[in-house]
Order: sequence, then structure tokens, then C-alpha cells
Amino acid sequence: MNIRTHLEEQFVLAMQKAGLPAEANPIIRLSARKEFGDYQANGIMPAAKILKSNPREIANQVVQNLEWQNFAEKVEIAGPGFINIFLKNSWLSDAATLALASSKLGIPALSRKQLVVVDYSSPNLAKEMHVGHLRSTIIGDVLSRVQEFLGHKVIRQNHVGDWGTQFGMLLAHFEDLQKGDAQHAAVELSDLEKFYIAAKKRFDEDKSFEERSRQTVVKFQSGDASALRNLQEFINTSLHHCEEVYERLNVLLKRSDVRGESAYNSALPGVVESLRKQKLLIEDHGAQCVFLDEFKGKDGPLPIIVQKSDGGYLYMTTDLAALQYRSQTLKADSIIAVTDARQALHFNQLETLGRLAHFLPKTTELHHVTFGMVLGSDNKPFKTRSGGTAKLSDLLNEAEERALALVKEKNTNLSIEEQKQIARAVGVGAVKYADLSKHRSSDYVFSWEQMLSFEGNTAPYLLYAYTRIAGILRKGGTSVDAIAIGPIEVVAPQERTLALQILQFSEVLNAVSAELLPHYLCTYLYDLAGAFMSFYEACPVLNASETSEKENRMRLAALTARTLKCGLSLLGLNTLERM
Ligand code: ARG
Repeated sequence: MNIRTHLEEQFVLAMQKAGLPAEANPIIRLSARKEFGDYQANGIMPAAKILKSNPREIANQVVQNLEWQNFAEKVEIAGPGFINIFLKNSWLSDAATLALASSKLGIPALSRKQLVVVDYSSPNLAKEMHVGHLRSTIIGDVLSRVQEFLGHKVIRQNHVGDWGTQFGMLLAHFEDLQKGDAQHAAVELSDLEKFYIAAKKRFDEDKSFEERSRQTVVKFQSGDASALRNLQEFINTSLHHCEEVYERLNVLLKRSDVRGESAYNSALPGVVESLRKQKLLIEDHGAQCVFLDEFKGKDGPLPIIVQKSDGGYLYMTTDLAALQYRSQTLKADSIIAVTDARQALHFNQLETLGRLAHFLPKTTELHHVTFGMVLGSDNKPFKTRSGGTAKLSDLLNEAEERALALVKEKNTNLSIEEQKQIARAVGVGAVKYADLSKHRSSDYVFSWEQMLSFEGNTAPYLLYAYTRIAGILRKGGTSVDAIAIGPIEVVAPQERTLALQILQFSEVLNAVSAELLPHYLCTYLYDLAGAFMSFYEACPVLNASETSEKENRMRLAALTARTLKCGLSLLGLNTLERM
């Protein structure tokens, strides 16, 4: 059940019967205060304005035409023409009962399925993944999971940087190592970070090495077989590192989702040619550029360079080719690209030029999902204990270590294997959740204390809330998944609040999907856990006075747990049965 959609449908009907134009929107919102009911319709005033009639009068007519008795205890006209809706307990009970019996928690099927391409993670493969890649990877993963869960078809694209000039330096170093001892070269490569630093040092200090690096770029760019083989080996190693991180992060990217910059090489001359044919190109200092009125700097128009004077192509050229591929070959209805906010101008230019040059048809949406920085307690970009740019794998190691210490403190009776398993879920979950629970546009300060706390809007709190419900059901002789379906009846106010919160899951997922904001889901789950705690305090479950009441409450508890589990899994967090 999606309450909001249901109310919208009912109100649209009533508004039409009351003589309002078909396009009038009832604007159904959650009520700001309890006295205004559960939901309110705010669309009467704007509609009345169009008709130039009295909004309270119109509101009256709408209510008269509304079959509100089916779902509401009462509806009230308030202020200048708001309509407050007080939902009926029996209606909420029925909806909750259906949700428990449904495989998808009663979330309605989509009326319009879309094909959504999500470009996320997309690290440059010259180095190991670092903290800067955390956000792109996990935010993109949540958005993909939510779109998929709602019923859209999602194609993931890991647009890795696998073709830049940096690879010349790395490959030249690799070739030198191979000349000595091939096995040794492979071992060196396994620590990408060290490898990069060693190559960079030579590049900066040794002119002849620098020159050879440049030649190596020319070699692989012109298709030299042995250079390409080395490049491929390098990329495989690097991707392998990424996949280890994805696996630990519980992120769904696979090798088959990789479509790096190099995949677009052969399309690049065509991109430039097409721009030329459309008379969009201007030569500037030998480079091929597009000048658009929309983009002006302090000193005049900003060029969008698509080909350098030496014939080389750029990040923009590749992205134009990717746009074409995604909209025309993959037939995307919507493209979502997740990168940090510093690429805002790039994506702005990409969309404007892409539309102008017909690489991106009107029917394909493009969304650039940006995010802020992860900061240390000094408010500067986050660093690890050792002070270097934080490697993502080191960060996850530390998270697990810290979580293990916590788990050991709390649970001395679990085996070390169990403790480790819990620590993995809690540690990595804490890092992810702390990030996802904040508005993605803001920078945030990375704090182990905050993210590992069992109080507040954190992963440990939510994971614990789930295990607590699982424990209650276990004691009651059943489980979250195995509980027999049956009616849920909402009576006590805390039962009502909890059921209403559960039934808002669908709305929240729609909001995450429409606004591409994962933190909505986190706030929702935190509130859900809170609603459960209040319910549990006020309404004894296993000690309820009657069996029917006990069973009813167990079903409500199970529905809560399922909703929590589902929501957490959409965030890429695995729940635990015990902790
Ligand atoms: N590799 C780029 C980086 O690390 C991100 C790529 C994002 N996707 C894209 N289509 N440009 O900054």
C-alpha cells in the first residue's frame, strides 16, 4: 500500500466531481502536527484560485464528493481551505495485514517501468581506491538497489579511468621490473599504492623515464600489442583490488558492469566529427572546442575542449560517447551519474552540449548526483591513523577492528568466529550508514565514536533494534521470516503509530528514487526503530494478557522487522539474528 498515492487518487476523483479542472493536484502531504491528522490535502487553495472561487467553499464540495468513510475516521476543513485526514484504525489494520502477507511488503507495482543507467564508483585505476571513492560507491549502490526494488530495470556502469596518461608512467615502470624478473614485477604490482608511488618518484626525478612514459602512452594508444597486454594486466590487478573492496562493502558491482573510458576509444573520432558536421566546433590554439553561451568565465567564454592540439581526446569526449551509448544503445530512460560536487561544471557542460548535439535525446533524463567531502576532525580531508590519504581497505580494516573491540566488550559468551562476523557487519555497516544517513550534498566529519555508538541514528542502533525483535520472536517460538500470516489489528495508539510508520515505507522509497537522496531512507528506518521501541514499552508482546493479542503483536513486530531488514538491505547492510 502506498497511502499517499491512494489518497491522491481518491482526492483527484472528488475534485473532478466537485468541478475542478482535471490537472488540479490535491497536494497530499504528511501532516505537520498531530492535531492536523495523519495527512493533509493542500491543493484546494491553488485550485480555487484558478477558478477564482472561495477555497473553503470548494473544500466543502470536495469533501462531499470524497468517499472518505472508506479510509478515514474523519476529515476536517481547516484554515483557508486545507483538508486534514484522520486515517481509520481498521483501514490501517487491513493495510498492515496485507503487507505482512505480501512478498514485497505490500509495495505496489510500478505503472511506468524505466530503464535506468547508474554510473557509480568509477575510480581511476592508476591507484587503489581511497576514501574519496567511498561515497560514489555506496551512494550509487543504494540508488541502484532502490530503483531495482521499485521495479525499474537498472544497468550499472562502472566508468573506470583506465586510459589516462598516468598509465604511461605505470607501464614504463612495469616493463622495467619485468625485464628484471616477471614474477617480482607481479608481486610489486599487488601493492598498487606502493607501485604508484615508486613509478611517480621515477617520473618526477628521471627525465629519460619521463620521456619513456610518454612514449608508452603513444604505444598503447596506437594499439601496440605488447603495451596493450601490459595495460590489460595492470587494469586486471587494479580491478581485482576494487572487487575486494566492493565485496567487503557489500556493493553489487561486478566485472561485467565495468565499462571504462577505454571502451569508448573507437567512438571518439566520431564524436568530434559529429560536432564538426553540426558546425559546433571552433579551433582555438589548435584544439577543437565548443563555446556555449551558458558557460562564461570571468575573462569571457569558457571553451569545452573535445580534442587537444596533439590529437588527444579528453574526459569530456569520452563522456559524450558514453552519453550516446547509454541513451542510444542501452536505451536508457534515465542516466544517473554519481561523482563528487567538483564535477558539477563538467556534467553541466556535458548535458548542455549533449542535448544540443543530439547525443542525449529529450526523452532521456540525465541526473548528476553529487556529494560533499569526508573530513577529519580537523575539518580537512580525512586521513588514516598513519596520516596518508586513507586507503579504503585500510579504513575498513580499522572499522572491523574497532567493532570487534566493542563486540568483545558486550558479548563474552560468543565464539570468536561469531564475534568476528558480527564485527564485520557492524564495522563496515557503521562506516556506510554514517555516510548515507547525511544529506549527500553536505561535507561531514568522519567520527568513529559517533558511527559506532549504539545510540542515535547509527548502524549499530538499527542492527541492534532488528536483533532485538528477532530475539522476541524467537522467544515466542517463531521467527521474522517464518511467522504465520494472520490479521494485524491496530488498537493502542503506539500500535497505530508503528503501523502507520511501517506503511510509509513505499512513500519513502519513492522519495529516495525521485530526489536521489538515500538519507531519507535512513531517517525513516531510525524513526521506525523508535516507533517500535515506544510500542514495545507500552504494549507487552510475549506477556500480553490474551493469546490473540500476543499473536497480533508478534505479527506487528515481525512486519516491523521485515521492513527494517528490507530497508537496511537496500542500504547494503546485512542484518544479524544475534549480536
Ligand atoms: N573516473 C572519474 C573520477 O575518478 C569518475 C567518472 C564518473 N563518470 C563519468 N561518466 N564521468 O573522477
